[in-house]
Amino acid sequence: MQTILFTNNISEAITSLVDGMNPSTVHIITDSNVTRDVLPTLSLPYPVIVTDPGDTAKNLQSLSQIWHSLIKGGATRRSVVINIGGGVVTDMGGFAAATFKRGVRFINVPTTLLSAVDAAVGGKTGINFEGLKNEIGAFAPADAVVISTSTFASLPSAELLSGYAEMLKHGLLSSESDYRELLGFDILNADLDLLLPLLEKSVKVKERIVEEDPREQGIRRALNLGHTAGHAFESLAMERNTPVPHGYAVAWGILVEMILSNITRGFPSAELYRYATYLKDHGYGSPAITCKDYPRLLELMRHDKKNDTANHINFTLLDSPGHPVIDCTASEPVIKEALDIFCDLLG
Ligand code: GLY
Repeated sequence: MQTILFTNNISEAITSLVDGMNPSTVHIITDSNVTRDVLPTLSLPYPVIVTDPGDTAKNLQSLSQIWHSLIKGGATRRSVVINIGGGVVTDMGGFAAATFKRGVRFINVPTTLLSAVDAAVGGKTGINFEGLKNEIGAFAPADAVVISTSTFASLPSAELLSGYAEMLKHGLLSSESDYRELLGFDILNADLDLLLPLLEKSVKVKERIVEEDPREQGIRRALNLGHTAGHAFESLAMERNTPVPHGYAVAWGILVEMILSNITRGFPSAELYRYATYLKDHGYGSPAITCKDYPRLLELMRHDKKNDTANHINFTLLDSPGHPVIDCTASEPVIKEALDIFCDLLG
């Protein structure tokens, strides 16, 4: 089981974790943005392996550079790796640690809300390969995760909104009261001290689900809520060279899947409107689609990794907040109807 520490003093938490691990050497893996903006505030006495920032750097070449630097830095099986950064760093650094000498211990220190609430926790590690996202990887939980909101102060609001979409998802999976509490919080004017306990609650939702199903054979698929439609929006935007933040696509995807839940499972209409209003009031924008884009969106949904068969689109839907249902499907006319309602609501 992963140790997850919630703290406002990252350096102290790392120092005490490292002391308890008695490593032969310690190596920080991070990217150049974090090296510039965050590392100076932590003053940790360990050598740093710096990668390029961004999802395009999550590749075999960067991974090979990390392995090379670990060898050059004298890492052994008793070494500890500390991944400090967003999802790219924790995914790739986690995979580098999981594979180096068949696996060395590692600590994740997420520096964005999105990585704190999602990527850094739960053991999914990996890299992109031949244009496919997270195609090569392993389930390898970090020994510890240090979560703090102190690095979020300099994040642009798009980053906070992006991470908050995954928190809303966890709220919807957890309970009506957790979800309501999140709708009552203004992430655009966030008090970071008040965000920390909300984040803690949110991470615990993921932790509970992952503990029950670490390798995504069943209930962990609930964490894909919003992601079937969301990935289709994200891929379409990428194809048009107008990429959108992952969490925006997830926020829109959740709305589409709430509408599908409403049509096929009686999810309450009032919740749909409440959620759509939160997205509109907080500047999540909309994916700029028309009905001409539906065939491509459906094709992208059909090719989603989460589908077991080519013709069957898999969704996690909701009976109500706190009551997810995995392995649902919907026919193309129903998905198109949901997209029509989605465009009306966010238009
Ligand atoms: N991002 C969803 C999961 O970790 O399963």
